[in-house]
Amino acid sequence: MPGEQRDWADVTAGGKNSLKAALKAPPGPGQVPIGTGLNGLQFYPGYLGRAQQEALLAALRQVLDSAPLYTPRMPKSGRPFTVRMSNCGPLGWTSDESGYRYTPVHPPTDRLWPPIPDTLIAMWNDVARYAHPPEACLINFYAPAAKMGLHQDRDEADFTAPVVSLSLGDTCLFRVGGLKRGDPTRSFRLNSGDVVVLGGGARLAFHGVDRIYPGTSTLLTEGGRINLTLRRVTRPE
Ligand code: SIN
Ligand code: MN
Repeated sequence: MPGEQRDWADVTAGGKNSLKAALKAPPGPGQVPIGTGLNGLQFYPGYLGRAQQEALLAALRQVLDSAPLYTPRMPKSGRPFTVRMSNCGPLGWTSDESGYRYTPVHPPTDRLWPPIPDTLIAMWNDVARYAHPPEACLINFYAPAAKMGLHQDRDEADFTAPVVSLSLGDTCLFRVGGLKRGDPTRSFRLNSGDVVVLGGGARLAFHGVDRIYPGTSTLLTEGGRINLTLRRVTRPE
């Protein structure tokens, strides 16, 4: 297994002081249980090493050549997301005025999404503890000012399958809470190569990205952060 599994991370309590505390938190001795009270949140820091990240990035550049990043819009209001997005796999998650949904085609071009790179399928097989392959890999690109509000991933038919998420590029401050929006949250940093699994009792945990730390990684020449989220969408036969 490329990375060591931990069910804890260097975290700080959520709330308005979390960013300051997260920036101050030293690695190592500052590591404490995530403490959401939910089983099934797994954290694999440094799951992919630098060479593997670079190889995956090359495969992703090909994916993005055929399914370029686009700006999704919020349901109803049509307000643009701050992230740009694409997908690979048989299905891709998208959002516009008519709502959130999975579609087999890239909305701007109407072409099928390209296949999921092998490294990501291998990662799923290693960490998902689920007998069937992922159907969607959402690609989110965060420019320095992009973020993602607290939300649940609940557009899938089978919540026994986990959500497996890999970070590439600049570090972000990731926030995870409980099953209700108002539950207490914990924040911790995700670095390039880190993997988070939301499975079991944490499958429907609220989560989001509060901020990006520009210039913290040299992986992406253009800067910013890529998040890859693998999901099973349909219930297997
Ligand atoms: C997401 O929840 O869609 C993305 C999470 C992340 O960027 O880490
Ligand atoms: Mn999500």
